[in-house]
Amino acid sequence: MRFSVTKNTSLFRYQLDRSKLFEGSWPIKDGVSVNAYLVRGSEKTVLIDYVEEGASFDEELKEMGLTVDDIDILVLNHMEPDHTGGLRDFFARRPDIPVYCTKVASLEVLSLYGKKDAHVIKPMEELELGGATLVFVPAPNVHWPDTMVTYYKEEGILFSCDAFGSFGETESVYDTELSEAEKKLLETETERYYANIVAPFSSFVLKAIDSLKALDIKMICPSHGIIYKGDVARIVSWYSRLASYAQGPQEKEITLLLSSMYGNTKSMADALSERAEARGVKVHVVRIPDDGFSVLLEKAWRSAALVVAAPTYERNMFPEAVYAMDLLCRKGVKGRKSMHFGSSLWSGGAAAEYRALAEKMGLDVVDAIDYRGAGSEADREKILAAFDKILEELN
Ligand code: FEO
Repeated sequence: MRFSVTKNTSLFRYQLDRSKLFEGSWPIKDGVSVNAYLVRGSEKTVLIDYVEEGASFDEELKEMGLTVDDIDILVLNHMEPDHTGGLRDFFARRPDIPVYCTKVASLEVLSLYGKKDAHVIKPMEELELGGATLVFVPAPNVHWPDTMVTYYKEEGILFSCDAFGSFGETESVYDTELSEAEKKLLETETERYYANIVAPFSSFVLKAIDSLKALDIKMICPSHGIIYKGDVARIVSWYSRLASYAQGPQEKEITLLLSSMYGNTKSMADALSERAEARGVKVHVVRIPDDGFSVLLEKAWRSAALVVAAPTYERNMFPEAVYAMDLLCRKGVKGRKSMHFGSSLWSGGAAAEYRALAEKMGLDVVDAIDYRGAGSEADREKILAAFDKILEELN
């Protein structure tokens, strides 16, 4: 679909298939858009970013009385194939189109799509389109090393690529027109997108936000999600906060990763949730694998404490809980206050495996407790005592 953003800037918005997994990993049951932008100067027309394999923006161009032959320059902020997969077909039709991108991206254009001689931008290089000037600002590792953002000087528009993006499909195009339901959706979908996609690159996000302070940004046009024009500062500050969770402090909340086969671990977890609720501390209970690793990442990323409630399974920790901890580690969920407990029967083993994983993650471990069967009153008291230490730390 096409939307006019300013008199010479258009949004081309494409919705990904909700039944598929984003990056082959992350559920998008509430959808996600891929956004590209067309900027028309009096002399040149530029397309900023593209779309996935099997899709094109031919219809959007046609609505404007244009074809791919009317695009003078293709700017590629980032090469991940959600934005570039369709280029194989595009380049077949426009083999000689000039491509502007970073040095790293130029190598990827070649290796992915066989396109040589991309123009490698210099930091803050300007491209004059006739009454419209685009400025290229490298933003490495937001999300890949190839990434840059593009600034439209006269209009104060930042084409920010993955930065400031979100999951979640909305009818609204701008932050100023969101319904209450859409606002609610984006509250979680923005954080889930950040934790799933951008979180490991948080130090680079903070650097990029710092370097963008020199620009007078009136509107942010990301490559996923809505356009921010009403309160640009809000999304910048939100992303800064999300990036700051990498080093902390995080929110005074607890994520409780719960895996339970027959309820003997869940019943103990329920006691902890009740204790936290009584003390006014928010607990995000995420059942693994039922609720999904994507949601676990979202909740754990913002939480200052991680409680792992997982039983022993064949002498080790419940396998999905092991994978969950490994994933949290890979995504940079580190340094949180933490504990483990879980039911076992003919042997323990989960606590020892938890401790090994927790050390890798740099978690501040209070205790790790395997207990037999449903657990005794003494087991319950020991687990609650460990949990109380975490609650004290959060208060
Ligand atoms: Fe939306 Fe990193 O691509």
